[in-house]
Amino acid sequence: MIRIKDLDFEISIRHNEIEESIAAIAEKMNHDYEDKCPLLLAILNGSFIFAADLVRHLTFEHEIQFAKFSSYQGTESTGKVKELIGLNVDILDRDIIIVEDIIDTGKTMSTLLPKLKERGARSIEIATLLMKPEKLMVDLDVKYCAIEIPNDFIVGYGLDYDGLGRQYPDIYTVVDNKK
Ligand code: IMP
Ligand code: MG
Repeated sequence: MIRIKDLDFEISIRHNEIEESIAAIAEKMNHDYEDKCPLLLAILNGSFIFAADLVRHLTFEHEIQFAKFSSYQGTESTGKVKELIGLNVDILDRDIIIVEDIIDTGKTMSTLLPKLKERGARSIEIATLLMKPEKLMVDLDVKYCAIEIPNDFIVGYGLDYDGLGRQYPDIYTVVDNKK
């Protein structure tokens, strides 16, 4: 059990399971992108650990860029998605793979996709470490999802609660203490 600010969390996904799930999606990606040189677009801050572990499994040529596109405060999604900042490279005719920590409502991704299309991307796919299918509010095609989880708030392995808890190698789920 760990405590972050006012909340208790208990371990729910161990590091070795995370590692195995990442290796499994990397294998699919290695097959799909064998002769391509895509641009991985990792969405900060949450995806920094996932991105670092994912690329070490990739056998195809690729570039990686980090950009910021955050919509989350505390444990509830605000529903408001802000601008994408930091994508300063030309993506015209590039194959893009968005690298995301978690897809919750899907609003962040559904706002990002048309922006990348407008900038002339040839193809766009999503690689996410985690996804909460029950919370998805938009129609989203997620080609590479490492782990599906229930509709609970989690931290660790890059994910935060109010900026804290990103450093844990395992993933922790909030303990529902009759809020
Ligand atoms: P969406 O736009 O609702 O899909 O929100 C996606 C973003 O919300 C993710 O990139 C995370 O930064 C954040 N998020 C969603 N669920 C969680 C969670 O359980 N823990 C920490 N951050 C989360
Ligand atoms: Mg995020």
